[in-house]
Amino acid sequence: MKATVTAHRDYRIATIDDRLYGAFLEHLGRAIYSGVYEPGHPTADANGMRRDVIDLVRELKVPIVRYPGGNFVSAYNWEDGIGPRDKRPTRLDLAWHTSESNAVGVHEFADWSAAAGTEMMLAINLGSRGLDEARNFVEYVNGPTGSYWGDLRKANGRAEPFGVKHWCLGNEMDGPWQVGHKTAHEYGRLANETAKTLRAFDSSLELIVCGSSNSDMATYPEWERIVLEHCYDSVDHVSLHMYFANRAKNTAEYLALGEKLDAYIGTIASTIDFVRAAKRSRKKVTISFDEWNVWYHSNAQDREILAGAKGWPHAPRLLEDIYNFEDALQVGCILNTFIRRSDVVRIACIAQLVNVIAPIMTEPGGAAWRQTTFYPYYFASVFGRGDALQLSVKSPGYDAEVADNVPYVDISGVHDAEGKALTFFVVNRNPSETIDLDVSLQGFSAASVGDHQVLAGAPLEATNTLVAPTTITPKKGSGAAVADGSLTAKLPPHSYQMIRLNLA
Ligand code: AHR
Repeated sequence: MKATVTAHRDYRIATIDDRLYGAFLEHLGRAIYSGVYEPGHPTADANGMRRDVIDLVRELKVPIVRYPGGNFVSAYNWEDGIGPRDKRPTRLDLAWHTSESNAVGVHEFADWSAAAGTEMMLAINLGSRGLDEARNFVEYVNGPTGSYWGDLRKANGRAEPFGVKHWCLGNEMDGPWQVGHKTAHEYGRLANETAKTLRAFDSSLELIVCGSSNSDMATYPEWERIVLEHCYDSVDHVSLHMYFANRAKNTAEYLALGEKLDAYIGTIASTIDFVRAAKRSRKKVTISFDEWNVWYHSNAQDREILAGAKGWPHAPRLLEDIYNFEDALQVGCILNTFIRRSDVVRIACIAQLVNVIAPIMTEPGGAAWRQTTFYPYYFASVFGRGDALQLSVKSPGYDAEVADNVPYVDISGVHDAEGKALTFFVVNRNPSETIDLDVSLQGFSAASVGDHQVLAGAPLEATNTLVAPTTITPKKGSGAAVADGSLTAKLPPHSYQMIRLNLA
């Protein structure tokens, strides 16, 4: 089987926004407690943050982290997480049926973000609360001393404003499961008034309004149209979410879901354009895809806790999906889709970062390790910065429920002019055939293979665990070559590859 691709230096989709490789941390399960924060851990720093986890987050070069939720934020009082720890209240978390000690709040998260080399993106509770708490939170975080909230922050140990630029106006407000769920009109008005108020404080904030929780919602995509008609002029990004699952144990259908993601992004891009035209606006609202990942392995084991059968445990094991090799292929396809839609997707956050549906897992008091999905995320984040190329792809394909002629070869290409590199991320969705890949390189200076990393040849159900953390690790590839202006490589069945070319 053969696939041919043309990559031309001048055929660009967009300069990829670094924020495309963001992540998400929620007060959920063990994401925070025994995930990033574990004061008694042998690697804990002076703030009680696990250094082993910080090192892995740094390895991933995560540019931005959304916090503190998620569904959690819709009944969260941000004030519970400030001031002396021994005075902070323990609250019931209605989203996940657990207890929240509030040992970590915005100050601790800021310290962690600085240590991990990442920027904060904060979510505001627009479920159980409203405009006043939103403005107080933003003033507390970013306001000057000499005013009430700035002075309180100083009294709590931080005189300098945190300078957080990105603010999410609630979370999944279209979802009936959300505390304070709203209709599109109710939410659109509230989001607009909140955005206007926050802009009166600082017009340069980047504000993210809730779009659909997924593209199967009954209100999608009317939700986006109505919400944006209320607030187009006062927000910057629409937030979308999507989780992927292979419940039917059908790998071909599962790996085709990137096509559904692509259609979802395309529909919302069109909805944005529609509202923009209706408003005669020049402003371009873009997409913040701030929750995406595989999520289904842990559903059954989580039921008891979510149903309240265990009372209100603090930081229990929840949403601890153990990812397999098949999921790594899926994450490769998802990231390729974001790179190909980087003209409109400016921010994306893998959900989540540690322990909870995450590429990084930890054991309390013990090790931290990389899940299978760590690797495609790592390669895209580290080597996928630059210009996304508009590739012309001719690949054999197959018909799936979500789309016809899904190409076996899922590929994206990124040109890093400054670093003189051209990188391809390639998934072969074919279960049994090796595909001969031929990429015609046009307009590029002489190229040679600089790095070639492969995930292949493992059972689809293979996992990395505490006792066997390196079952799935990338291997150095062989056989990729550049000659006569073409890159050739062999793509084994069900494989992921990162091929990085050095340019002269
Ligand atoms: O990431 C887990 C949950 O998924 C988030 O809390 C919520 O926003 C989404 O439904």
